[in-house]
Amino acid sequence: MDFDEIITSRRSARVFTNDVISNKQIEKILQSGCSAPSARNRQPWKFYILNDEQKNHIMDMLFEWDKSNPKERTSVKGTAEQIKTANKMIMIYSDNYKSKAKNENYKKPDYISLGCAIENMSLQAVNLGLGSCILCDTLYIENEIDEYLGISDFEQICGFIIGSPIYNYPPKIKKDFKDLLLN
Ligand SMILES: Cc1cc2nc3c(=O)[nH]c(=O)nc-3n(C[C@H](O)[C@H](O)[C@H](O)COP(=O)(O)O)c2cc1C
Repeated sequence: MDFDEIITSRRSARVFTNDVISNKQIEKILQSGCSAPSARNRQPWKFYILNDEQKNHIMDMLFEWDKSNPKERTSVKGTAEQIKTANKMIMIYSDNYKSKAKNENYKKPDYISLGCAIENMSLQAVNLGLGSCILCDTLYIENEIDEYLGISDFEQICGFIIGSPIYNYPPKIKKDFKDLLLN
């Protein structure tokens, strides 16, 4: 696959086969995240690779949250369904905002840096013939997840699921940059 194809064929994968993702593939995806640019090279990312039990527990917590909040119109239930078939799930954290820096000037740059890392991970998954999806719905139960995993010094950014997608998702309609120019 050439670079353009990797970029244009990346889609958020929502249903996965039973194929097992190897540790080598996970390592390659994480290392690609670590190659991303970051503000002042702070590399603010941290990763927590969930085992099956932890992944399933977080999925159950999301289903539970959805049941307890019937009036909220969110995608939490759909996100929990996606976690069910995903082979691996990683929680992504920022090591800056909550902990040592506590510097408001770092906040936005670090979020941007994390976005760069996460996109690198998404593209590497495509390169390996895999699919992934970024999951910010975990933030509905951010504190519960952090407590469950024993994380207190880092700020939760999102979940990230990886697997072998069950089919090739058709391209999603994306805006044309020409319609987005401000000048
Ligand atoms: C910051 C961010 C958070 C997201 N959170 C979720 C989520 O919690 N659940 C989900 O199903 N998809 C989530 N997505 C995936 C988006 O729904 C998806 O990227 C969007 O619909 C565009 O589709 P595509 O990725 O296939 O191009 C998220 C994507 C981003 C970039």
